Amino acid sequence: MNSIIAEIERAVAAAKAALDRAASPAEAEAVRIEYLSRNGLFPALSRRMGEVPPEERRATGTAFNTGRTEIEAALEAAKTRLTAATAAEEALDVTLSGRRGRIGHKHPISQMADECVRIFRRMGFTPMEGPEIEDVYHNFDALNTPADHPSRDPQDTFYFPDGRILRSQTSPVQIRVMETHQPPIRIVAPGRVFRRDTPDATHGMNFHQIEGLSIDKNVSMADLKSVLQNFAWEMFGEKVNIRLRPHFFPFTEPSVEYDFSCVVCGGKGCSVCKNSGYIEIAGAGMVDPAVLKNVGYDPEVWSGYAFGMGIERLAMLRYRIPDLRLLYENDLRFLEQF
Ligand code: PHE
Repeated sequence: MNSIIAEIERAVAAAKAALDRAASPAEAEAVRIEYLSRNGLFPALSRRMGEVPPEERRATGTAFNTGRTEIEAALEAAKTRLTAATAAEEALDVTLSGRRGRIGHKHPISQMADECVRIFRRMGFTPMEGPEIEDVYHNFDALNTPADHPSRDPQDTFYFPDGRILRSQTSPVQIRVMETHQPPIRIVAPGRVFRRDTPDATHGMNFHQIEGLSIDKNVSMADLKSVLQNFAWEMFGEKVNIRLRPHFFPFTEPSVEYDFSCVVCGGKGCSVCKNSGYIEIAGAGMVDPAVLKNVGYDPEVWSGYAFGMGIERLAMLRYRIPDLRLLYENDLRFLEQF
């Protein structure tokens, strides 16, 4: 027996073993390609017929033919077995109950923003949006924020090389709306804002605010307070109280910060409200006449109030989330709870 015949026999045994192991029609086809195709082992061996001494050629030829036939038969058997198996697997069992597609749901921050918009809509506010990439004019100058104001510092605001910025607040939407609309105006603008903060349990480098603006004749602080009080009731229930504290913003005068009585302890004092009974929700005030002038409104005719609140803060209170970073980690075990 010459070495080519021995190789043919080994190849046949290996091919049959591989076909026995094959788990799909594609794997069986790979075996055919390896042994029988034009670049496969069999044609390569037959090209070595020249090495075979003349008296062994007939036997070698026979070995080729039987080897090829054996592999082809094994291939046929494997393909029949595998296609039958696949067909059985794929057969439609109409008695099975349907598979429910798993679709996700809105992120808790989006749910919270939607909820805020729903509440303000019922009070007559129309939702609006502004760009997240802003210019310094709309984010600062038009809002009466002087060039030396700390919030303009590159330590606090993200600047692009071309001088534009990632808006640090939703207040520039006030300006954009007033530039393009005539009063009376009553809008809310939810959106993402960016600050150079070091992230911790209550601060992030980007977070969400919802801005409110109302411009009309004879608008007063009492209107602002009633809108915020109503919002607090709608969002957290009738037991919630609000408290306004004097504050300063360049674009409102007078300015306030407002707090909701702690929804966790009901105002008695707990770790969430740091024993103060109140939780700061955001800033507000009467729109500064300088801002009205910047957009071409006559401050003698028009007045208004503006407010801005942090959506994450509201979500943390509403859902008792102890750490704001949980909202951004996209851990499904957390998100699925909402
Ligand atoms: N833009 C202010 C901030 O981000 C909040 C604010 C909005 C204050 C509107 C007054 C009026 O802190």
